[in-house]
Amino acid sequence: MINWTEVPKTELHLHIEGAAPPDFIRMLAAEKNVDLSKIFKDDGSYVWKDFAEFLQTYEAACSVLQTPDDFRRLTEAVLDVSAAHGVIYTEMFLSPDFCGGGDLEAWKDYLAAMTVGAENGKAKHGIETRFISTCIRHFGPEKAVQTAKITALTAGGLLTGYGMGGEERHLHAADFSKSFEIAAEAGLGLTSHAGEICGAESVRETLDFLNVARIGHGVRAIEDADLIARLVEEQIVLEVCPGSNIALNVYPTWGDHPIEKLRKAGVPVTVSTDDPPYFYTDMTREYRKLHETFGWGLADFKAINRTAMQAAFCDDKTRQRLMAKFE
Ligand code: ADE
Ligand code: ZN
Repeated sequence: MINWTEVPKTELHLHIEGAAPPDFIRMLAAEKNVDLSKIFKDDGSYVWKDFAEFLQTYEAACSVLQTPDDFRRLTEAVLDVSAAHGVIYTEMFLSPDFCGGGDLEAWKDYLAAMTVGAENGKAKHGIETRFISTCIRHFGPEKAVQTAKITALTAGGLLTGYGMGGEERHLHAADFSKSFEIAAEAGLGLTSHAGEICGAESVRETLDFLNVARIGHGVRAIEDADLIARLVEEQIVLEVCPGSNIALNVYPTWGDHPIEKLRKAGVPVTVSTDDPPYFYTDMTREYRKLHETFGWGLADFKAINRTAMQAAFCDDKTRQRLMAKFE
């Protein structure tokens, strides 16, 4: 019997606010005298029933994440969980919109605090962290440009990537090309959510207009053979989050999930949790389910992790050091 918790792992797709343990958010709500009871079920988990409601609950939970020190504590709480599940390298999506409302000076304070959180996590667990600053699609292209500008001005250190999350049905990828150009000029690694809620066309537009090296999810590319050929040809890495897709009913069961078909077709796939407490998952469960559903063994997971480290938004020294853990 393999102990899936202990198997070393990399994670490329984890939203810091979406990874907030419900107890942590309840503690902050109590400290700040905010009534968040409507976003929690009786069993203490987050309330939502579809993607739109998930985004609403997510933003309500963010309302108690108010100060840089709240985000430092959150970073440490999230890294405690990741490390407990064997994660040795993680990339976290941060949202400047939730960290100072798009103001550069405020963002610098939040970023510094989360960097301290990541350093403390490394000292405590040995886990390596990089940050991907994300714009939020349904907040619109103007906010995205502002997010890209303040990200570009603070790039470096642990902040190595730029991305986009949020409501995929809102506008088109092309509407966000300016913000991705600003981030690309600053030398940031680029990724965007696509092909999660919307189909293959959304992935194609994202590749055409945003110049990304990676796609968040991208799984619905499976609906279009020409697009699959393009992903293989261009070696676009998919940040696949199977448990998230199943919780959001993109696929009804693990057996229906296309990750194995994508991998067999030659698409570089990786494995992440997205927003683990919202989707009742963690990295141990993702690995165990992939083992049970598709028979993936230790050699398969080593290959998946090498793919992830190759695509990681980190310096080559860090990449080589961590890659050696998956040989
Ligand atoms: N923000 C947090 N989780 C997300 C997801 N799964 N899709 C889009 N935006 C998100
Ligand atoms: Zn996501």
